Amino acid sequence: MTSHQPLPAFPDGFLWGVSTSAFQIEGASAEDGRGPCAWDAFTRRTGRIKDGSDAAVATDHYHRWPEDVALLRELGVDAYRFSLSWPRVLPSGGGQLNRPGLDFYDRLVDTLCEAGIQPVPTLFHWDTPLALEERGGWLRRETAHLFADYADIVAARLGDRVNRWITLNEPAELTLLGYGLGVHAPGERLLFDALPAAHHQLLGHGLAVRALRANGADSIGIANSHGPVRPLSDSPADTGAADFYDTLTNHLFADPLLLGRYPDQELAELLPGPVEDDLEAIGEPLDWYGINYYRPTVVGAGGEGGKFAGVDIPAEVPFTLHETPGRERTGSGWAVVPEGLTDTLRTLGERYGDRLPPVLITENGCAYPDRTHDGRRIDFLDAHLRALHTALTEGADVRGYFIWSLLDNFEWAEGYTQRFGLVHVDYATMERTPKDSFHWLRRALAARRTAG
Ligand code: NOJ
Repeated sequence: MTSHQPLPAFPDGFLWGVSTSAFQIEGASAEDGRGPCAWDAFTRRTGRIKDGSDAAVATDHYHRWPEDVALLRELGVDAYRFSLSWPRVLPSGGGQLNRPGLDFYDRLVDTLCEAGIQPVPTLFHWDTPLALEERGGWLRRETAHLFADYADIVAARLGDRVNRWITLNEPAELTLLGYGLGVHAPGERLLFDALPAAHHQLLGHGLAVRALRANGADSIGIANSHGPVRPLSDSPADTGAADFYDTLTNHLFADPLLLGRYPDQELAELLPGPVEDDLEAIGEPLDWYGINYYRPTVVGAGGEGGKFAGVDIPAEVPFTLHETPGRERTGSGWAVVPEGLTDTLRTLGERYGDRLPPVLITENGCAYPDRTHDGRRIDFLDAHLRALHTALTEGADVRGYFIWSLLDNFEWAEGYTQRFGLVHVDYATMERTPKDSFHWLRRALAARRTAG
């Protein structure tokens, strides 16, 4: 374990926060008029979730949110990133508004503001209303338009207190894991036929940006996953597979947003609709760009299928995925590669130049099973913050850093087996206990305030 010297100084006004998402923490899945979402249905399918669990209760945040806001206050963060559950606000995705659902977020936002914590809502963190999923979900263009209507409704209600908005969380993961490989909801294994889900999410994003702007928002971003892609060897087969993977997971999503074009003509031809016209909406200028960073991916030639992070990769997929060799692993088996964050920011700066707006790290964190003595999480965060600081000294314009996650929570297909929280949750009693990492961050933030 490192000695945990004080962290290097970050610029004045740097935004410190923590992140969560509705489906992973709220529970109350059938309360106060919330409609079902694609993940509710997916968790009921046998064998899809590692521990056979669901998120009907999750961390019971829907009832315990005042306690969770008190934890945020104790922690001393500037901002809290959470997500709004679309089916809590609009149970069928469109049409009838569920007033109690929107009231819930209204109260949460009020209480955060009273506590001096900036609310940073994400409009969509994978919980597609089931009624829409049953009609094809993000494979259909209509979903993008309904998403923009939903953005308009919540911005009209919360926009007087919420200024900073995130449209989507990790559209790449939903496309590839949800529609491509079927390990996340909705559980489709469409391989490359999943790509319309990418385009429609991006279109939904662009239309939502317009709806938010029409409601006066002037701090809008997206949370995209990014990480360096490294070839398994120098062989042309491996480097070719790595380039392709980089295009598919990084450039396919960032290029249209930041450059207003798709990176690859062959992939673009697989996309539906008036793509050229849509690109104008997708490329609406952003006020900042959010990055979720966890680790690099090592990519080898495909054709044989395999397993990666518990995911079966079919033989038709033109790559195999591997962890960075020779590195420590987190509890979920992910390699610890802090300098991958510096590389990510460097590479984005090189590729997008002045088209890249200021950046926020919207997620970074790790899963460890330790109940409260989570020194390994402190090591992880300390090392990643130093790597981030290096990027700042190289000129990267990063304005904030959000840790995933405030609380242990429902980790998608991993159920409750992976704990990412700064706060331990006892799922039998719902008792919250701050871990050592919580206190470490609390002290660091307090020291920064004293110094400032
Ligand atoms: C990214 C996702 O946005 C979040 O929901 C998830 O829990 C973390 N990664 C950890 O896997």
